[in-house]
This record gives sequence, C-alpha cells and structure tokens, in this order.
Amino acid sequence: MSHYDVIVIGAGAAGLMCAITAGNRGRNVLVLDHANKAGKKILMSGGGRCNFTNMYSEPENFISHNPHFCKSALARYTQWDFIALVDKHGIPYHEKKLGQLFCDNKASDILTMLLTECDDAGAKIQLNTSVEQIEKTEQGFALNAGNKPLTCESLVIATGALSIPTMGATGFGYDVARQFGHSILSTRAGLVPFVITNQLKPLCEALSGSSVDTTVSCNGQTFRENILFTHRGISGPAILQISSYWREGDEIEINLLPDFNAESWLAEEQSGRPNAELRTVLSDVFTKKMATLFCENWFESKPMKQYTPAELEKVAAQLSEWKITPSGTEGYRTAEVTIGGVDTNELSSKTMMSKKVEGLYFIGEVVDVTGWLGGFNFSWSWSSGHAAGESV
Ligand code: FDA
Repeated sequence: MSHYDVIVIGAGAAGLMCAITAGNRGRNVLVLDHANKAGKKILMSGGGRCNFTNMYSEPENFISHNPHFCKSALARYTQWDFIALVDKHGIPYHEKKLGQLFCDNKASDILTMLLTECDDAGAKIQLNTSVEQIEKTEQGFALNAGNKPLTCESLVIATGALSIPTMGATGFGYDVARQFGHSILSTRAGLVPFVITNQLKPLCEALSGSSVDTTVSCNGQTFRENILFTHRGISGPAILQISSYWREGDEIEINLLPDFNAESWLAEEQSGRPNAELRTVLSDVFTKKMATLFCENWFESKPMKQYTPAELEKVAAQLSEWKITPSGTEGYRTAEVTIGGVDTNELSSKTMMSKKVEGLYFIGEVVDVTGWLGGFNFSWSWSSGHAAGESV
C-alpha cells in the first residue's frame, strides 16, 4: 500500500497546477491520469498555440450559477502570477487581441513548463492509470488505481468535463462528486458552433468559409467579434461566446453592421447615390459574395431611389437585427468547454474543498465555473488548481 499526502486525479491544466503548488509546499503528491500523455487539451488548445490566459481576466468573464464563487481563487492567483511563471521559463508569447495571450511557438511550451515545475516540486505523475474505486477512510481516502491500492490524506478531482470525448473526457468527476453526496448542476456544451437545419442552411452553406464582424446577442449578453459561416451552420468567436448563454429554442440576434446605424446609413446612401443598386451599396461593407447572397435571400435588389422608407427600414432591420433560431449546437464533440458541473454552493471558494467531505477537492472544468473564450478557462484552471494546492 503506497501512501501520499495528496493524490490528484487528472493531469490536465488544473491538476498539474495543483500538484506544483502542493509539491512546493513540501507535500508528497501523486498525479494519476488514465491517458497516455499529460495535458492533452493544453497541447490542442488555441489552435496549437495555447491561449494560456487573458490580461483582462475579471470575474465577469465567467459563467456559474454562483457568479461570486470564482472571485476568491482568481484574486489569489491572477493572470499576472501565471504570466510571471511563463516569463520565468523564458517562453515567448504575444497578445493576439482583446488581452488574449498565446505562445509564439507551440502549446507544448506551456505543458513542458508545467511538467518541469511538477518535477522540481517533487510531484510524481503516473499515466495510463484508471481509478477503479474510491473510499473515505478515517485518515483520508483509499483508492484502487491500476489494480494497486493507494491511500492519501487529500484527494483532488481534476478530471475535467465532457467536451471532446475523443481526448479522454469522461463524466468521472461527476460520478465521484455524486458518490460523496454532491449535486451536479445540469451540464451542456459551451463555446460550441451552432448547427442550422432550417431554411437558412443553404445560405450558410453558400457562404461557408466567409466571416464577418458583428455583434451577437442572446439572453441579455452581447459579444462583438467575427461570425463564420460553415457547412453545418455558424461558428466563429462571437458565436462560440454566445453559445455559452444560449439554451435550446432561444433566438439569437446578429447585427451585421455593428459600426453603423443601419437606417441612417441606408438613407444617406439613398440620397448620395440614388441609382446604385442595393447589392452594390452592400458590397461596400460586405464581400461581394455576401452582398449578392444577402440580396438574393432577403431583399429585392433594385436602385436605391426605388426603395420606400418602409422598405429601407425593413432592410436595415434585417441587417442589424437578424434573428436566428439555431437548431442546436455541435455538442460535446467540438465544444471547448462544458457549462455546469459540481455545484459551487457545496465547495469552499477559498480552497475548493468539499463542504461535505473533509479532504476532497474539485478544481478546473469539473466545477460549475466556465470562462469566456479568450484564455479564461485556463485562468480558472490555474487559479482553482492553485487554491486547492495551497490547502491540500
Ligand atoms: P482537462 O480536461 O484539461 O484535464 C483533465 C484530465 O483528467 C485529462 O488529462 C484526462 O485525461 C484526465 N481524466 C479524465 N477522466 C479521467 C479518469 N476517469 N481517470 C483518470 N484521469 C482522467 N481554454 C483556454 O483558456 N484557452 C484556450 O486556448 C483553449 N483552447 C481549447 C481548445 C480546445 C479544442 C478545447 C477542447 C478546449 C480549449 N480550452 C481552452 C479549454 C481548456 O482546455 C479547458 O478549460 C481546460 O483544459 C480544463 O482543464 P482541466 O484541468 O479542468 O481539465
């Protein structure tokens, strides 16, 4: 029987940060993972360049049934703490946009940094190991991992959530939470493209690969970013962001002219160039293909002077308040994150420890805290992992 002070299940972003922090405190740490490699999601993140944090990270960038829960952990290990670690390892990075920090080279720079830190902190990582059974004992926990009995004082569940099952995502963390009497708040795919199967599908297909700057709104939330048409529907950063606020059956509203008052712009164009066709006017702000397809699908393209004020009003509304009811999302198969998870009301916001079971911790994506697109999800993994690492 091997005994550890701390066993962390899950060698992803949150688990590795927790192991580093606990190891640096002198705790004897073992990290278990069923995968053949640690940090697979880190490697595939940010298109292979890992958007490892966001300079403007604030609690407002996170979604949770309890929006206050994330504040303590985020404040005690900030984006600047992680940036200092990246700097310490001499990893080159840049801001892509909106405070999003990406590696200049490869996401593996971040994983190598974490594994080096784990090594320096004396934390041991054991891969290809499934945990079969967990029991609470008087001193802590007893588990069966890879047919070997292990015991520990503190047990940290850092097994992530349901997005990208082909990467080894499982509901294991939820099962452990339930086993120890925790509630799981209903889960759904977040940061995920929308599928369109209605009459709009041919337009999405025809424009597949084209993107346009927009504001997209749903359920009181608005994002200013590009949308991207795909063969299956719509995607792009603005859509991924709004998908986290969308529920089945909800309508989303897209403003295709976010910098303009569409009505006054069209009225100006009408008086400035009365003989120009609407399609020509629209090609000034959209690609030619987009302008043509929008006209074919929505309007009769005729010279501007022939539009009545009521007709122009309709054109303006279509362009600035385009309403779409997505048929669904692409689901966990392509979602970057899972919304919902272990109920934060049953965890300490300071330490991430269960309020029900002494010594049991939940960190990272398995918890009901989900970040926006832009490095916020890793921020949560680093901060929650650090909070637990300080306490275990
Ligand atoms: P994570 O999923 O990283 O790790 C969980 C670990 O637990 C895995 O190693 C898994 O193998 C292991 N595990 C699961 N079940 C187990 C079991 N039963 N037994 C043992 N081990 C088990 N975020 C961001 O901020 N910036 C970005 O650029 C991106 N990019 C991105 C791209 C793509 C394609 C995806 C899918 C996601 C992102 N994300 C992101 C989100 C980010 O990857 C995610 O929020 C974190 O990886 C969550 O970290 P965790 O450590 O909680 O789980």
